[in-house]
Amino acid sequence: MKAKFIKSFEERLALYIGISALITLVVEVCTVFLIRLIAGKLRYMGYRSALMSPDGINPSFRLGILLAVGILVFIFSFYFLVQKYMRYVRIIINGMKDIAQGDFDKDIPVESMDEFGQIAGYLNQMEENIKVIMERERIAEHTKNDLISSVAHDLRTPLTSIIGYLGWVKEQPDLDVQVRQKYLDIAYRKAQHLEQMTNELFGFVKLEHREMSLQMGILNLSQLLAQLLDECVPSFEKYGLETEYICSDNQVMLEGDGNLLARLYDNLLNNAIKYGKDGKMIRVELEKRGDYAVTRVINYGYVIPQEDIANIFRKFYRVEQSRSQDTGGTGLGLAIVQQIAELHQGTVSVKSSLQGTVFEVTLPLNQGIEEQD
Ligand SMILES: Nc1ncnc2c1ncn2[C@@H]1O[C@H](COP(=O)(O)OP(=O)(O)OP(=O)(O)O)[C@@H](O)[C@H]1O
Ligand SMILES: [Mg+2]
Repeated sequence: MKAKFIKSFEERLALYIGISALITLVVEVCTVFLIRLIAGKLRYMGYRSALMSPDGINPSFRLGILLAVGILVFIFSFYFLVQKYMRYVRIIINGMKDIAQGDFDKDIPVESMDEFGQIAGYLNQMEENIKVIMERERIAEHTKNDLISSVAHDLRTPLTSIIGYLGWVKEQPDLDVQVRQKYLDIAYRKAQHLEQMTNELFGFVKLEHREMSLQMGILNLSQLLAQLLDECVPSFEKYGLETEYICSDNQVMLEGDGNLLARLYDNLLNNAIKYGKDGKMIRVELEKRGDYAVTRVINYGYVIPQEDIANIFRKFYRVEQSRSQDTGGTGLGLAIVQQIAELHQGTVSVKSSLQGTVFEVTLPLNQGIEEQD
């Protein structure tokens, strides 16, 4: 019986007792009529016995029949009703058995609103949660494996060179001093690159696990960008890049972690230099849009293929072409940019076409992040 209005098992039991009593009453009334009918017929036929008095069936015999019929009808109807309900309990038990055996795909039907219906509902919910947790675990495991293989790959490349150059120097004691110095310089530069990559990796892991405490403060974003652009001047000159800084307001004051934000824009500027060398020009734009500061770092030249756009914020993702180029990155830069933007309740997006590659960062001016120490 699917009585959806019943809220508890006690109510269900009371309902079953009520229904059984009603059925018993109806059967008892019918029995009374039947007894009367049979007694009338017997009397008419002149039948006499100890169970028959002159005015009908013996009252205690009649009471005995009614009592026996009543008890039997009540027990059977109650058993029948409970039995139907017990089938539902067995369905729930089977569902629990499936879950215990690791099958999370079968839903248990929610057939009532009482405690058993609730158990079924909660079990279904538990199944969903377990599935979500397992999926997250699977992705985390996958990411971890990705991370290990990418790190191993990226660390091995400079390490192999360092070992190669140092081994060469060690095995050639008569090597010309200048050549020896040149090899040592290369090995030193590679070791520095290795150190930078390791630091970047540590920084990223810390960011990803939100282990980094934000040193919040009010900073002048217009000035920060001008300063970062100044620091890039040697690279701009090296690659013959012109720069344009368009800032509608010299006082874009923003609440944030200065070091992290510098790292965010530094990554974007370095990418613009690395991948926009052929574009001859880099543009940086800053504007206030309502309660937000919107920054755009634009470079020209190399267009990011459409199929890579969706992936470039993933850690260790590098567009195939840039892997073969001598750009020497780890593919963590944009993942770090995104992490930092998110830590500041902001967003970062990218568009790339022949009109330029635009990385747009939107940060709230006041994000209410509580200062931490
Ligand atoms: N401004 C850009 N113009 C064109 N392509 C870009 C630009 N920025 C990033 N990309 C592409 O996106 C990929 C991912 O960039 P990301 O900064 O995450 O890694 P990376 O520069 O390769 O290495 P890292 O920054 O860790 O040293 C790059 O390999 C490059 O192919
Ligand atoms: Mg980069």
